[in-house]
Amino acid sequence: MSELWGGRFERKSNELVEKLGESVSFDSRLARFDILGSIAHARMLGEQGIIAKGDARKIISGLKAIDREIDKGTFVWDTALEDVHMNIEAALTARIGDAGKRLHTGRSRNDQVAADMRMWTRYQISVICGRLELLQIELVEFAQKHIEVILPGCTHLQHAQPVLLAHHMLAYVEMFSRDYDRFTELNKRINILPLGSAALAGTSYKLNRKMVAEELGFDGISANSMDAVSDRDYLIEFCSNASITMMHLSRLCEEFVLWSTPEFGYIEIGDAFTTGSSIMPQKKNPDVAELVRGKTGRVYGDLMALLTVMKGLPMTYNRDLQEDKEPAFDASDTVLLCLHVVARMLPSIHVNADAMLEAVREGFLEATDLADYLTAKGTPFRDAHEIIGRLVLHCSKKGLRLSELSLGQLQAFSESFEADALALLDPVTLVKRRDIAGGTAPKRVRAAIKRARKRLGS
Ligand code: ARG
Repeated sequence: MSELWGGRFERKSNELVEKLGESVSFDSRLARFDILGSIAHARMLGEQGIIAKGDARKIISGLKAIDREIDKGTFVWDTALEDVHMNIEAALTARIGDAGKRLHTGRSRNDQVAADMRMWTRYQISVICGRLELLQIELVEFAQKHIEVILPGCTHLQHAQPVLLAHHMLAYVEMFSRDYDRFTELNKRINILPLGSAALAGTSYKLNRKMVAEELGFDGISANSMDAVSDRDYLIEFCSNASITMMHLSRLCEEFVLWSTPEFGYIEIGDAFTTGSSIMPQKKNPDVAELVRGKTGRVYGDLMALLTVMKGLPMTYNRDLQEDKEPAFDASDTVLLCLHVVARMLPSIHVNADAMLEAVREGFLEATDLADYLTAKGTPFRDAHEIIGRLVLHCSKKGLRLSELSLGQLQAFSESFEADALALLDPVTLVKRRDIAGGTAPKRVRAAIKRARKRLGS
């Protein structure tokens, strides 16, 4: 017979049940939140006269002592006690006797674990947001360091128009800044206290829920006890936010992988963030970028696991809900590590500005501007598009770049070309011309860096 629920049972549970059902091997990481929650609950029980104030004091000091033991690593976790909650409660009773048995008054593990997970998620979000800021700071530094560098902007991975490398990097700053906002906004839905819902229906004890909420830093209390013990929407949102952040990291890393190939030759990732091959001595592989790209898949998997666990659950608490933890922990650990490693990898990247500029000269990136030039001279845009198309075809057949054409050759395609058209064949001029809010003109990009630095306090 299990010690935990004693009375009702006549036989011991099968040993496989412990193996299947224990969660302490992974939920012990909730301990500090479990203890904080129990301290607040005990204090409130004492204040309300539900238990004696002396017992409340004993419980609180007992829990603090257990917290120190856990911190030191001397606390012994026992899978026979199933989960973090039961382990701590049993240790408390062993330490202070009967008072320990009064802690669980007016509470169920169902609202207890819900409160713990909300506190855990709230804390993880603050750490993730810090890492998102660190990454943005490094991206902005990278942009500033290479402010003069121009590379081909692509659509369909084909050369399209020249852009500043800084502009390209600031695009990622926008993505990670949205991620930051998404995580911050989620706090509003997380920071609601479920304690007081008990098993599912509330409790007959006169608990002071607001007092507990205040002590634990919650902004409010849950409105429906049945929802409160079975809601895991916030964890799905958390994993969804983590998935989006991983997707952004993965896109960035994919570019680093491509850019460090000999075909591109745009960058070289520092030795500290690349690895060698066990057979090919010449290799320097972008494993870090690849692993981040690969780990994106497991975070998507965490999101899918949670969505699937929840989809068929009737009200209210079902033991399936214990399966919320590992995916949430994994998503959080993975996104934190990946944000950190990419932020640290960025300063190690050597940029080959000449290779980027050389690439800008390939692929007729001046074409749009030449068409715009003719349009400014009065040629309708569609006709200008056609003329420049023919010009590009001509150059491509002859193996010429647009920048190699003389004014006379240009004029053979349109009489509207004058000497100033030749300036458009310079990449610096081309980026300067995108002088519009959100555009790649150096002036605009410098202002964007300034705004980002102000926002990030960097
Ligand atoms: N370890 C459990 C979980 O994570 C705690 C709640 C247990 N509640 C219950 N009714 N068995 O879900």
